[in-house]
Amino acid sequence: RSYADIAIERNPQFKKITKQDIDHFKTFLEPQSILATTDIGGTIDEAKELDGYNTDWLGKYKGRSQVVLRPKSTQQVSKILKYCNDQKIAVVPQGGNTGLVGGGVPVFDEVIVSLGSMNNIRDFNETSGILVCDSGCILEELDKFAAGHGFSMPLDLGAKGSCHIGGNVSTNAGGIRFIRYGSLHGSVLGLEVVLPDGTIVDNLGTLPKDSTGYDLKQLFIGAEGTLGIVTGVSIVTPPRPNSVNVAVLGVSSYDAVQKAFRKVRRDLAEVLSAFEFWDTRCMQIVLDHNNLRSPLEEEHPFYILIETSGSKKDHDDEKLAECLESLLENEIIDDGALAQDETQVSKMWSMREGIPESLGKWGPTYKYDISIPIGVLYDIVPEMANRLEQAGLYSKDPKTYESASKDDPNVVVKGVLGYGHIGDGNLHLNVVANRFDKKVTDVLEPYVYEWVASHKGSISAEHGLGLMKAPHLHYSKSKVIVDWMVRIKNAFDPNGIMNPYKFLPRTTTSSSN
Ligand code: FAD
Ligand code: MLT
Ligand code: ZN
Repeated sequence: RSYADIAIERNPQFKKITKQDIDHFKTFLEPQSILATTDIGGTIDEAKELDGYNTDWLGKYKGRSQVVLRPKSTQQVSKILKYCNDQKIAVVPQGGNTGLVGGGVPVFDEVIVSLGSMNNIRDFNETSGILVCDSGCILEELDKFAAGHGFSMPLDLGAKGSCHIGGNVSTNAGGIRFIRYGSLHGSVLGLEVVLPDGTIVDNLGTLPKDSTGYDLKQLFIGAEGTLGIVTGVSIVTPPRPNSVNVAVLGVSSYDAVQKAFRKVRRDLAEVLSAFEFWDTRCMQIVLDHNNLRSPLEEEHPFYILIETSGSKKDHDDEKLAECLESLLENEIIDDGALAQDETQVSKMWSMREGIPESLGKWGPTYKYDISIPIGVLYDIVPEMANRLEQAGLYSKDPKTYESASKDDPNVVVKGVLGYGHIGDGNLHLNVVANRFDKKVTDVLEPYVYEWVASHKGSISAEHGLGLMKAPHLHYSKSKVIVDWMVRIKNAFDPNGIMNPYKFLPRTTTSSSN
Protein backbone atom coordinates (compact mmCIF):
# COMPACT_ATOMS: atom_id res chain seq x y z
CA ARG A 1 0.00 0.00 0.00
CA SER A 2 1.43 3.38 -0.87
CA TYR A 3 1.01 6.88 0.56
CA ALA A 4 2.15 9.46 -1.93
CA ASP A 5 5.32 7.53 -2.60
CA ILE A 6 6.01 5.83 0.70
CA ALA A 7 5.25 2.16 1.14
CA ILE A 8 4.42 1.13 4.69
CA GLU A 9 3.08 -2.08 6.10
CA ARG A 10 0.40 -2.02 8.74
CA ASN A 11 1.78 -3.15 12.07
CA PRO A 12 -0.05 -6.46 12.65
CA GLN A 13 0.33 -6.04 16.41
CA PHE A 14 -2.38 -3.40 16.39
CA LYS A 15 -5.87 -4.72 16.93
CA LYS A 16 -8.44 -4.08 14.22
CA ILE A 17 -11.41 -2.28 15.67
CA THR A 18 -14.62 -4.26 16.13
CA LYS A 19 -18.22 -3.75 17.18
CA GLN A 20 -17.24 -4.67 20.77
CA ASP A 21 -14.82 -1.76 20.85
CA ILE A 22 -17.46 0.66 19.60
CA ASP A 23 -19.88 -0.74 22.19
CA HIS A 24 -17.28 -0.03 24.84
CA PHE A 25 -16.86 3.58 23.66
CA LYS A 26 -20.64 3.94 23.84
CA THR A 27 -20.49 3.32 27.58
CA PHE A 28 -18.85 6.69 28.23
CA LEU A 29 -19.16 8.78 25.06
CA GLU A 30 -22.38 10.37 23.83
CA PRO A 31 -23.69 8.93 20.52
CA GLN A 32 -22.78 12.13 18.63
CA SER A 33 -19.18 11.83 19.86
CA ILE A 34 -18.71 8.56 17.97
CA LEU A 35 -18.47 8.66 14.19
CA ALA A 36 -18.12 5.05 13.06
CA THR A 37 -19.23 3.02 10.08
CA THR A 38 -22.29 0.81 10.39
CA ASP A 39 -20.37 -2.45 9.87
CA ILE A 40 -18.69 -1.93 13.24
CA GLY A 41 -21.80 -0.71 15.02
CA GLY A 42 -21.73 2.97 14.16
CA THR A 43 -24.17 5.15 12.26
CA ILE A 44 -22.10 6.24 9.26
CA ASP A 45 -23.24 4.49 6.08
CA GLU A 46 -20.20 5.13 3.99
CA ALA A 47 -16.57 5.42 5.06
CA LYS A 48 -16.42 8.25 2.49
CA GLU A 49 -18.21 10.44 5.02
CA LEU A 50 -15.07 10.27 7.13
CA ASP A 51 -12.85 11.47 4.27
CA GLY A 52 -12.46 14.90 5.88
CA TYR A 53 -10.80 13.25 8.88
CA ASN A 54 -8.84 10.71 6.83
CA THR A 55 -7.33 13.14 4.32
CA ASP A 56 -4.75 15.80 5.04
CA TRP A 57 -4.94 19.48 4.02
CA LEU A 58 -2.62 18.97 1.06
CA GLY A 59 -4.58 16.00 -0.28
CA LYS A 60 -1.30 14.08 -0.21
CA TYR A 61 -1.93 11.58 2.58
CA LYS A 62 -5.05 9.51 3.09
CA GLY A 63 -5.82 6.92 5.73
CA ARG A 64 -8.85 4.67 6.02
CA SER A 65 -10.00 4.88 9.58
CA GLN A 66 -13.57 3.87 10.24
CA VAL A 67 -13.77 5.57 13.61
CA VAL A 68 -13.55 9.15 14.79
CA LEU A 69 -14.02 9.81 18.51
CA ARG A 70 -14.80 13.34 19.60
CA PRO A 71 -14.36 13.47 23.40
CA LYS A 72 -15.74 16.41 25.36
CA SER A 73 -13.58 16.16 28.45
CA THR A 74 -10.13 15.19 29.64
CA GLN A 75 -11.70 12.30 31.54
CA GLN A 76 -13.16 10.96 28.30
CA VAL A 77 -9.80 11.26 26.56
CA SER A 78 -8.27 9.35 29.44
CA LYS A 79 -10.82 6.53 29.14
CA ILE A 80 -10.30 6.32 25.37
CA LEU A 81 -6.52 6.06 25.65
CA LYS A 82 -6.58 3.61 28.55
CA TYR A 83 -8.88 1.31 26.58
CA CYS A 84 -6.89 1.63 23.34
CA ASN A 85 -3.66 0.97 25.18
CA ASP A 86 -5.05 -2.13 26.90
CA GLN A 87 -6.44 -3.40 23.60
CA LYS A 88 -3.43 -2.29 21.51
CA ILE A 89 -5.55 -0.13 19.25
CA ALA A 90 -3.54 2.52 17.42
CA VAL A 91 -4.61 6.15 17.80
CA VAL A 92 -4.03 9.35 15.87
CA PRO A 93 -4.81 12.62 17.68
CA GLN A 94 -6.27 15.25 15.38
CA GLY A 95 -6.68 18.99 15.86
CA GLY A 96 -7.77 21.23 13.01
CA ASN A 97 -6.15 18.91 10.44
CA THR A 98 -4.16 21.74 8.84
CA GLY A 99 -0.80 20.03 9.32
CA LEU A 100 1.45 19.89 6.27
CA VAL A 101 3.50 16.74 6.91
CA GLY A 102 0.81 14.05 7.05
CA GLY A 103 0.97 13.78 10.86
CA GLY A 104 -2.66 14.34 11.79
CA VAL A 105 -4.33 11.72 9.60
CA PRO A 106 -4.23 7.96 9.99
CA VAL A 107 -1.99 5.84 7.82
CA PHE A 108 -4.22 2.74 8.07
CA ASP A 109 -7.15 2.17 10.40
CA GLU A 110 -5.97 4.05 13.49
CA VAL A 111 -8.74 5.49 15.64
CA ILE A 112 -8.91 9.24 15.11
CA VAL A 113 -9.31 11.18 18.34
CA SER A 114 -10.51 14.61 17.25
CA LEU A 115 -10.20 17.34 19.88
CA GLY A 116 -12.66 19.72 18.21
CA SER A 117 -15.33 19.32 20.92
CA MET A 118 -12.95 20.37 23.67
CA ASN A 119 -13.00 24.07 23.03
CA ASN A 120 -13.63 25.91 26.28
CA ILE A 121 -11.63 28.73 27.76
CA ARG A 122 -10.85 27.70 31.31
CA ASP A 123 -9.34 30.84 32.77
CA PHE A 124 -7.92 34.22 31.82
CA ASN A 125 -5.94 36.53 34.06
CA GLU A 126 -6.37 40.21 33.11
CA THR A 127 -3.19 41.24 34.88
CA SER A 128 -0.73 38.63 33.65
CA GLY A 129 -2.47 37.89 30.34
CA ILE A 130 -2.16 34.17 31.06
CA LEU A 131 -4.79 32.14 29.24
CA VAL A 132 -5.75 28.58 30.14
CA CYS A 133 -7.90 26.71 27.65
CA ASP A 134 -8.86 23.36 26.19
CA SER A 135 -6.56 22.12 23.45
CA GLY A 136 -9.35 22.05 20.84
CA CYS A 137 -9.81 25.84 20.85
CA ILE A 138 -9.31 27.34 17.41
CA LEU A 139 -6.37 29.76 17.30
CA GLU A 140 -8.36 32.60 15.72
CA GLU A 141 -11.12 32.24 18.31
CA LEU A 142 -8.55 32.49 21.07
CA ASP A 143 -7.06 35.58 19.45
CA LYS A 144 -10.52 37.18 19.29
CA PHE A 145 -11.10 36.33 22.93
CA ALA A 146 -7.72 37.77 23.90
CA ALA A 147 -8.44 40.89 21.81
CA GLY A 148 -11.59 41.44 23.85
CA HIS A 149 -9.34 41.82 26.88
CA GLY A 150 -6.66 43.91 25.19
CA PHE A 151 -4.29 40.99 24.54
CA SER A 152 -3.29 38.88 21.56
CA MET A 153 -2.10 35.33 20.98
CA PRO A 154 1.69 35.10 20.77
CA LEU A 155 1.45 33.13 17.54
CA ASP A 156 -0.36 33.66 14.27
CA LEU A 157 -0.47 31.61 11.10
CA GLY A 158 -2.38 31.39 7.85
CA ALA A 159 -4.35 28.39 9.12
CA LYS A 160 -5.58 30.30 12.21
CA GLY A 161 -9.25 29.88 11.25
CA SER A 162 -9.02 26.08 11.55
CA CYS A 163 -5.93 25.02 13.51
CA HIS A 164 -6.23 24.25 17.22
CA ILE A 165 -3.98 25.49 19.97
CA GLY A 166 -3.36 21.81 20.84
CA GLY A 167 -2.22 21.21 17.25
CA ASN A 168 -0.03 24.31 17.39
CA VAL A 169 1.62 23.10 20.57
CA SER A 170 1.99 19.56 19.25
CA THR A 171 3.74 20.76 16.08
CA ASN A 172 5.66 23.55 17.84
CA ALA A 173 4.18 25.87 15.23
CA GLY A 174 6.10 29.02 14.34
CA GLY A 175 4.26 31.42 12.05
CA ILE A 176 4.41 35.13 11.46
CA ARG A 177 4.78 36.42 15.02
CA PHE A 178 7.72 34.21 15.90
CA ILE A 179 10.16 37.02 15.19
CA ARG A 180 8.42 39.09 17.89
CA TYR A 181 7.25 36.65 20.55
CA GLY A 182 9.54 33.66 19.99
CA SER A 183 8.81 29.96 20.23
CA LEU A 184 5.97 28.14 21.97
CA HIS A 185 8.70 26.57 24.10
CA GLY A 186 8.80 29.99 25.77
CA SER A 187 5.21 31.18 25.73
CA VAL A 188 3.53 27.92 26.79
CA LEU A 189 3.60 27.87 30.59
CA GLY A 190 1.86 24.60 31.19
CA LEU A 191 0.07 21.67 29.60
CA GLU A 192 -2.47 19.10 30.65
CA VAL A 193 -1.68 15.84 28.88
CA VAL A 194 -3.23 12.39 28.81
CA LEU A 195 -0.63 9.65 28.55
CA PRO A 196 -1.26 6.50 26.52
CA ASP A 197 -2.16 4.49 29.65
CA GLY A 198 -4.84 7.04 30.55
CA THR A 199 -2.86 8.88 33.23
CA ILE A 200 -3.76 12.56 33.34
CA VAL A 201 -0.66 14.70 33.83
CA ASP A 202 -1.72 18.03 35.27
CA ASN A 203 1.21 20.24 34.37
CA LEU A 204 -1.07 23.17 33.60
CA GLY A 205 0.91 25.72 35.59
CA THR A 206 0.55 29.45 35.15
CA LEU A 207 3.92 30.43 36.55
CA PRO A 208 6.25 32.29 34.20
CA LYS A 209 9.13 31.21 36.40
CA ASP A 210 9.55 27.69 37.72
CA SER A 211 12.92 26.13 38.27
CA THR A 212 11.95 22.84 39.87
CA GLY A 213 13.67 20.24 37.80
CA TYR A 214 12.89 18.63 34.44
CA ASP A 215 10.34 20.65 32.51
CA LEU A 216 8.15 17.78 31.34
CA LYS A 217 5.78 19.90 29.26
CA GLN A 218 8.61 20.79 26.87
CA LEU A 219 8.65 17.19 25.66
CA PHE A 220 5.08 17.50 24.45
CA ILE A 221 5.72 20.74 22.55
CA GLY A 222 6.46 19.41 19.08
CA ALA A 223 5.79 15.74 19.99
CA GLU A 224 3.12 15.54 17.26
CA GLY A 225 0.84 13.27 19.26
CA THR A 226 3.44 10.53 19.69
CA LEU A 227 3.64 10.70 23.49
CA GLY A 228 0.06 11.43 24.51
CA ILE A 229 -2.82 13.78 23.90
CA VAL A 230 -2.61 17.42 24.93
CA THR A 231 -5.96 18.39 26.48
CA GLY A 232 -5.23 21.75 28.11
CA VAL A 233 -2.85 24.62 27.42
CA SER A 234 -1.66 27.52 29.56
CA ILE A 235 -0.10 30.27 27.49
CA VAL A 236 1.12 33.85 27.97
CA THR A 237 -0.68 36.37 25.78
CA PRO A 238 1.12 39.68 25.23
CA PRO A 239 -0.71 43.03 25.37
CA ARG A 240 -2.38 43.78 22.04
CA PRO A 241 -0.51 46.52 20.19
CA ASN A 242 -2.80 49.46 19.41
CA SER A 243 -0.74 50.74 16.51
CA VAL A 244 -0.08 48.42 13.58
CA ASN A 245 1.56 49.36 10.28
CA VAL A 246 2.15 47.16 7.27
CA ALA A 247 4.25 47.84 4.18
CA VAL A 248 4.98 45.76 1.09
CA LEU A 249 8.33 46.37 -0.59
CA GLY A 250 9.71 45.31 -3.96
CA VAL A 251 13.39 44.35 -4.27
CA SER A 252 15.61 43.22 -7.10
CA SER A 253 17.53 40.30 -5.56
CA TYR A 254 17.75 37.97 -2.62
CA ASP A 255 20.83 39.87 -1.57
CA ALA A 256 18.68 42.99 -1.32
CA VAL A 257 16.18 41.06 0.85
CA GLN A 258 18.99 40.41 3.31
CA LYS A 259 20.25 43.98 3.20
CA ALA A 260 16.73 45.21 3.86
CA PHE A 261 16.38 42.81 6.77
CA ARG A 262 19.60 43.99 8.37
CA LYS A 263 18.55 47.62 8.10
CA VAL A 264 14.93 47.15 9.09
CA ARG A 265 15.83 45.15 12.17
CA ARG A 266 18.20 47.86 13.31
CA ASP A 267 15.98 50.84 12.43
CA LEU A 268 12.66 49.48 13.63
CA ALA A 269 14.09 47.50 16.54
CA GLU A 270 11.41 47.02 19.22
CA VAL A 271 8.42 47.81 16.96
CA LEU A 272 9.25 45.28 14.23
CA SER A 273 6.69 42.47 14.46
CA ALA A 274 7.00 40.66 11.11
CA PHE A 275 9.45 40.41 8.24
CA GLU A 276 8.20 38.03 5.56
CA PHE A 277 9.32 37.50 1.98
CA TRP A 278 8.15 35.78 -1.18
CA ASP A 279 9.36 35.54 -4.75
CA THR A 280 7.81 36.93 -7.90
CA ARG A 281 6.21 33.64 -8.96
CA CYS A 282 4.39 33.40 -5.62
CA MET A 283 3.13 36.94 -6.14
CA GLN A 284 1.82 36.15 -9.62
CA ILE A 285 -0.02 33.05 -8.41
CA VAL A 286 -1.50 34.66 -5.30
CA LEU A 287 -2.72 37.71 -7.23
CA ASP A 288 -4.22 35.55 -9.99
CA HIS A 289 -5.97 33.13 -7.71
CA ASN A 290 -7.43 35.76 -5.43
CA ASN A 291 -8.17 38.40 -7.99
CA LEU A 292 -6.00 40.89 -6.14
CA ARG A 293 -3.94 43.83 -7.41
CA SER A 294 -0.37 44.31 -6.34
CA PRO A 295 0.15 47.42 -4.20
CA LEU A 296 3.28 48.07 -6.29
CA GLU A 297 3.09 49.22 -9.89
CA GLU A 298 5.79 47.04 -11.32
CA GLU A 299 6.81 43.41 -10.88
CA HIS A 300 9.84 42.71 -8.70
CA PRO A 301 11.96 39.56 -8.27
CA PHE A 302 11.21 39.54 -4.52
CA TYR A 303 8.66 41.04 -2.17
CA ILE A 304 8.98 41.83 1.51
CA LEU A 305 6.22 42.44 4.03
CA ILE A 306 7.16 44.47 7.08
CA GLU A 307 4.84 44.90 10.04
CA THR A 308 5.36 47.18 13.01
CA SER A 309 3.31 46.87 16.19
CA GLY A 310 3.56 49.22 19.10
CA SER A 311 1.75 51.36 21.58
CA LYS A 312 2.37 54.86 20.23
CA LYS A 313 1.21 55.47 16.69
CA ASP A 314 3.12 58.69 15.98
CA HIS A 315 6.34 57.13 17.17
CA ASP A 316 5.87 53.97 15.06
CA ASP A 317 4.74 55.90 11.97
CA GLU A 318 7.76 58.16 12.15
CA LYS A 319 10.18 55.28 12.62
CA LEU A 320 8.72 53.32 9.71
CA ALA A 321 8.55 56.32 7.37
CA GLU A 322 12.21 57.15 8.07
CA CYS A 323 13.24 53.55 7.57
CA LEU A 324 11.39 53.22 4.25
CA GLU A 325 12.81 56.50 3.00
CA SER A 326 16.30 55.42 3.82
CA LEU A 327 15.78 52.00 2.17
CA LEU A 328 14.71 53.78 -1.02
CA GLU A 329 17.46 56.41 -0.87
CA ASN A 330 20.11 53.74 -0.41
CA GLU A 331 18.59 51.75 -3.27
CA ILE A 332 18.16 48.70 -1.10
CA ILE A 333 14.53 48.50 -2.16
CA ASP A 334 13.08 49.53 -5.52
CA ASP A 335 9.59 50.42 -4.43
CA GLY A 336 7.32 50.28 -1.41
CA ALA A 337 3.68 50.78 -0.42
CA LEU A 338 2.42 51.55 3.04
CA ALA A 339 -1.08 50.39 4.04
CA GLN A 340 -3.30 53.40 4.68
CA ASP A 341 -6.08 51.69 6.61
CA GLU A 342 -7.09 48.35 8.11
CA THR A 343 -8.51 47.08 4.82
CA GLN A 344 -5.16 47.63 3.13
CA VAL A 345 -3.38 46.03 6.07
CA SER A 346 -5.42 42.87 5.69
CA LYS A 347 -5.08 42.90 1.88
CA MET A 348 -1.31 43.06 2.17
CA TRP A 349 -1.31 40.25 4.69
CA SER A 350 -3.59 38.17 2.47
CA MET A 351 -0.94 38.36 -0.26
CA ARG A 352 1.53 36.64 2.01
CA GLU A 353 -0.84 34.40 3.93
CA GLY A 354 -2.77 33.42 0.80
CA ILE A 355 0.27 31.80 -0.82
CA PRO A 356 -0.18 28.22 0.53
CA GLU A 357 -3.85 28.07 -0.44
CA SER A 358 -3.26 29.63 -3.87
CA LEU A 359 -0.49 27.14 -4.62
CA GLY A 360 -2.72 24.30 -3.45
CA LYS A 361 -5.44 25.39 -5.86
CA TRP A 362 -2.92 25.59 -8.69
CA GLY A 363 -1.76 22.01 -8.20
CA PRO A 364 -0.53 19.31 -5.82
CA THR A 365 2.25 20.92 -3.81
CA TYR A 366 5.45 19.40 -2.44
CA LYS A 367 6.43 21.38 0.63
CA TYR A 368 9.85 21.66 2.22
CA ASP A 369 10.09 23.77 5.34
CA ILE A 370 13.71 24.38 6.11
CA SER A 371 15.89 26.33 8.54
CA ILE A 372 19.18 27.45 7.04
CA PRO A 373 21.59 30.32 7.68
CA ILE A 374 19.98 33.31 5.97
CA GLY A 375 22.88 33.93 3.54
CA VAL A 376 22.22 30.81 1.46
CA LEU A 377 18.57 30.26 2.27
CA TYR A 378 17.11 30.99 -1.16
CA ASP A 379 19.86 29.17 -3.13
CA ILE A 380 17.92 25.93 -3.03
CA VAL A 381 15.03 27.38 -5.04
CA PRO A 382 16.91 28.02 -8.34
CA GLU A 383 19.04 24.95 -7.71
CA MET A 384 15.96 22.77 -7.46
CA ALA A 385 14.45 24.38 -10.53
CA ASN A 386 17.63 23.47 -12.46
CA ARG A 387 17.56 19.90 -11.21
CA LEU A 388 13.93 19.47 -12.23
CA GLU A 389 14.64 21.04 -15.61
CA GLN A 390 17.59 18.72 -16.19
CA ALA A 391 15.36 15.79 -15.31
CA GLY A 392 12.97 16.93 -18.04
CA LEU A 393 10.14 17.58 -15.57
CA TYR A 394 10.15 21.36 -15.60
CA SER A 395 10.74 24.34 -17.83
CA LYS A 396 11.55 27.82 -16.60
CA ASP A 397 9.35 29.21 -19.31
CA PRO A 398 6.17 29.51 -17.25
CA LYS A 399 3.93 28.95 -20.26
CA THR A 400 5.29 25.50 -21.00
CA TYR A 401 3.76 23.52 -18.19
CA GLU A 402 1.75 25.84 -16.04
CA SER A 403 -1.68 24.73 -17.22
CA ALA A 404 -0.97 20.98 -17.12
CA SER A 405 -3.77 19.07 -15.40
CA LYS A 406 -3.61 15.90 -13.36
CA ASP A 407 -4.92 13.93 -16.36
CA ASP A 408 -1.99 14.90 -18.59
CA PRO A 409 -0.11 11.76 -19.58
CA ASN A 410 3.17 13.24 -18.40
CA VAL A 411 3.95 14.29 -14.90
CA VAL A 412 5.28 17.85 -14.95
CA VAL A 413 6.32 20.50 -12.49
CA LYS A 414 4.42 23.76 -12.89
CA GLY A 415 6.36 25.94 -10.50
CA VAL A 416 9.31 26.03 -8.10
CA LEU A 417 8.74 28.77 -5.57
CA GLY A 418 10.13 30.18 -2.36
CA TYR A 419 8.67 32.24 0.46
CA GLY A 420 8.88 32.32 4.20
CA HIS A 421 9.77 33.83 7.49
CA ILE A 422 13.09 35.31 6.54
CA GLY A 423 13.60 36.88 9.94
CA ASP A 424 13.60 33.38 11.45
CA GLY A 425 15.86 31.86 8.78
CA ASN A 426 12.93 29.76 7.57
CA LEU A 427 12.33 29.11 3.88
CA HIS A 428 9.30 27.36 2.42
CA LEU A 429 10.46 25.70 -0.80
CA ASN A 430 7.35 24.69 -2.72
CA VAL A 431 7.22 22.61 -5.87
CA VAL A 432 3.85 22.55 -7.61
CA ALA A 433 3.22 19.67 -10.00
CA ASN A 434 0.24 18.40 -11.97
CA ARG A 435 0.09 15.40 -9.63
CA PHE A 436 2.01 13.78 -6.79
CA ASP A 437 4.39 11.35 -8.47
CA LYS A 438 7.49 9.43 -7.47
CA LYS A 439 9.38 10.79 -10.49
CA VAL A 440 9.15 14.27 -8.96
CA THR A 441 9.87 13.10 -5.41
CA ASP A 442 13.00 11.30 -6.54
CA VAL A 443 14.44 14.48 -7.98
CA LEU A 444 13.58 16.41 -4.83
CA GLU A 445 14.50 13.86 -2.18
CA PRO A 446 16.85 13.09 -0.61
CA TYR A 447 18.66 15.92 -2.45
CA VAL A 448 16.89 18.67 -0.53
CA TYR A 449 17.60 16.99 2.81
CA GLU A 450 21.25 16.42 1.90
CA TRP A 451 21.52 20.07 0.92
CA VAL A 452 20.01 21.14 4.25
CA ALA A 453 22.34 18.84 6.18
CA SER A 454 25.36 20.18 4.29
CA HIS A 455 24.46 23.65 5.62
CA LYS A 456 23.79 22.33 9.13
CA GLY A 457 20.17 23.31 8.78
CA SER A 458 16.92 21.73 9.94
CA ILE A 459 14.69 19.67 7.62
CA SER A 460 11.70 21.03 9.52
CA ALA A 461 11.73 24.58 10.80
CA GLU A 462 8.10 24.67 11.95
CA HIS A 463 5.83 22.09 10.28
CA GLY A 464 7.14 19.03 12.10
CA LEU A 465 8.10 15.55 10.90
CA GLY A 466 4.82 13.67 10.57
CA LEU A 467 4.71 10.86 8.05
CA MET A 468 6.66 12.79 5.45
CA LYS A 469 9.93 13.38 7.24
CA ALA A 470 10.09 10.48 9.69
CA PRO A 471 12.58 8.54 7.53
CA HIS A 472 14.75 11.63 7.08
CA LEU A 473 15.22 12.64 10.71
CA HIS A 474 18.90 11.65 10.63
CA TYR A 475 19.63 14.57 8.30
CA SER A 476 18.97 16.91 11.22
CA LYS A 477 19.57 14.83 14.32
CA SER A 478 22.56 12.70 15.30
CA LYS A 479 22.25 8.97 16.02
CA VAL A 480 22.68 9.63 19.73
CA ILE A 481 19.79 12.10 19.72
CA VAL A 482 17.53 9.84 17.64
CA ASP A 483 18.29 6.95 20.02
CA TRP A 484 17.27 9.12 22.97
CA MET A 485 14.12 10.18 21.15
CA VAL A 486 13.26 6.49 20.67
CA ARG A 487 13.90 5.84 24.36
CA ILE A 488 11.64 8.72 25.35
CA LYS A 489 8.92 7.44 23.01
CA ASN A 490 9.18 3.93 24.47
CA ALA A 491 9.08 5.22 28.04
CA PHE A 492 5.81 7.09 27.47
CA ASP A 493 4.23 4.74 24.95
CA PRO A 494 5.62 1.21 25.35
CA ASN A 495 2.90 -0.26 23.12
CA GLY A 496 3.58 2.30 20.41
CA ILE A 497 -0.12 3.10 19.96
CA MET A 498 0.30 6.87 19.68
CA ASN A 499 0.46 8.12 16.11
CA PRO A 500 2.41 5.14 14.75
CA TYR A 501 4.54 5.14 11.55
CA LYS A 502 5.33 8.82 12.00
CA PHE A 503 7.87 11.16 13.56
CA LEU A 504 10.60 8.59 14.29
CA PRO A 505 12.40 6.59 11.60
CA ARG A 506 10.31 3.59 10.57
CA THR A 507 11.71 0.12 10.50
CA THR A 508 9.17 -1.40 8.09
CA THR A 509 9.31 1.03 5.20
CA SER A 510 10.58 0.79 1.68
CA SER A 511 10.17 2.78 -1.51
CA SER A 512 7.48 1.84 -3.99
CA ASN A 513 5.92 3.10 -7.25
P1 FAD B 1 -3.33 18.84 13.05
O1 FAD B 1 -2.98 19.05 11.64
O2 FAD B 1 -4.66 18.28 13.34
O3 FAD B 1 -2.22 17.90 13.73
C1 FAD B 1 -0.86 18.18 13.60
C2 FAD B 1 -0.06 17.18 14.47
O4 FAD B 1 -0.31 17.41 15.85
C3 FAD B 1 -0.43 15.74 14.23
O5 FAD B 1 0.70 14.95 14.40
C4 FAD B 1 -1.45 15.44 15.31
O6 FAD B 1 -1.48 14.07 15.64
C5 FAD B 1 -0.94 16.28 16.44
N1 FAD B 1 -1.97 16.81 17.34
C6 FAD B 1 -2.97 17.66 17.03
N2 FAD B 1 -3.67 17.98 18.13
C7 FAD B 1 -3.10 17.30 19.15
C8 FAD B 1 -3.35 17.21 20.54
N3 FAD B 1 -4.34 17.89 21.12
N4 FAD B 1 -2.55 16.43 21.30
C9 FAD B 1 -1.52 15.73 20.73
N5 FAD B 1 -1.24 15.77 19.43
C10 FAD B 1 -2.02 16.56 18.65
N6 FAD B 1 2.62 26.03 10.51
C11 FAD B 1 3.54 26.85 11.06
O7 FAD B 1 4.29 26.43 11.93
N7 FAD B 1 3.64 28.17 10.66
C12 FAD B 1 2.84 28.69 9.71
O8 FAD B 1 2.97 29.85 9.35
C13 FAD B 1 1.85 27.84 9.14
N8 FAD B 1 0.98 28.33 8.23
C14 FAD B 1 0.07 27.50 7.67
C15 FAD B 1 -0.80 28.01 6.72
C16 FAD B 1 -1.74 27.19 6.11
C17 FAD B 1 -2.68 27.76 5.09
C18 FAD B 1 -1.81 25.82 6.47
C19 FAD B 1 -2.82 24.91 5.86
C20 FAD B 1 -0.96 25.30 7.43
C21 FAD B 1 -0.01 26.13 8.03
N9 FAD B 1 0.87 25.64 8.99
C22 FAD B 1 1.79 26.48 9.56
C23 FAD B 1 0.83 24.22 9.39
C24 FAD B 1 -0.25 23.91 10.46
O9 FAD B 1 -1.28 24.82 10.43
C25 FAD B 1 0.35 23.89 11.83
O10 FAD B 1 1.22 22.79 11.90
C26 FAD B 1 -0.67 23.76 12.97
O11 FAD B 1 0.01 23.97 14.18
C27 FAD B 1 -1.39 22.44 13.01
O12 FAD B 1 -2.48 22.53 13.90
P2 FAD B 1 -3.76 21.59 13.75
O13 FAD B 1 -4.66 21.84 14.89
O14 FAD B 1 -4.37 21.74 12.42
O15 FAD B 1 -3.10 20.17 13.89
C1 MLT C 1 3.42 29.66 5.72
O1 MLT C 1 4.37 30.27 6.21
O2 MLT C 1 2.67 30.19 4.87
C2 MLT C 1 3.12 28.31 6.21
O3 MLT C 1 4.13 27.73 6.94
C3 MLT C 1 2.49 27.37 5.24
C4 MLT C 1 3.34 26.94 4.12
O4 MLT C 1 4.52 26.72 4.30
O5 MLT C 1 2.83 26.79 3.03
ZN1 ZN D 1 5.52 29.19 7.58
